[in-house]
Amino acid sequence: MEKVFIMDHPLIQHKLTLIRDKNTGSKEFREAVKEIAMLMAYEVTRNLPLEEVEIETPVCKTKSKVLAGRKLGIVPILRAGLGMVDGMLSLIPAAKVGHIGLYRDPETLEPVEYYCKLPVDIHERDLIVVDPMLATGGSANAAIQFIKDRGATSIKLMCLIAAPEGVKAVKEAHPDIEIYVAAVDEKLNDHAYIVPGLGDAGDRLFGTK
Ligand code: PRP
Ligand code: URA
Repeated sequence: MEKVFIMDHPLIQHKLTLIRDKNTGSKEFREAVKEIAMLMAYEVTRNLPLEEVEIETPVCKTKSKVLAGRKLGIVPILRAGLGMVDGMLSLIPAAKVGHIGLYRDPETLEPVEYYCKLPVDIHERDLIVVDPMLATGGSANAAIQFIKDRGATSIKLMCLIAAPEGVKAVKEAHPDIEIYVAAVDEKLNDHAYIVPGLGDAGDRLFGTK
């Protein structure tokens, strides 16, 4: 079964161009990241199970469908993943949000954990790990392993831009995970930045550079 889904909807691709552009300021960048996350959430949740319930319209009794099954959880990888949370919550407001704080050591490129707060019932939830950038895959792999170690069994990864290297790394480390991205770019550069990418997602979201 295919485990990598590229979301090439025109609205997503249009907004992606906006955030790639170095002349886009933090305010517009934040808004576009939020909107892309909302559009992607629509696709990521496409296969949520439904169940039939009986209701009464003003005209008659009928059966109609509502969401069934497991509850959802969104797990942003701090910092940049935070920019995707509000967009997702606008579609799935009942989802719980867990946070994993990781930064990539600029020398070793290894992820360093500095914060973690997860819903207590993550083992019962369908979790969507979110981060705008999937570069080497080190941060995503660490976050996925982290929540697996705490009992999570149903996990998807949703990123805006991925490098082929990152996709490969996640597929190898976690072959059970579905990966949703808006684009797979060309490559990583010598500093493990995605080319062409959009630069440092956290800095652009929060105006720290
Ligand atoms: C960025 C990005 C990912 C990570 C991707 O975070 O948001 O978490 O790098 O790189 P990787 O796939 O090689 O691990 P960063 O470490 O810059 O931290 P920040 O979100 O706090 O800016
Ligand atoms: N993290 C980012 O924010 N951007 C990249 O291109 C790679 C890692």
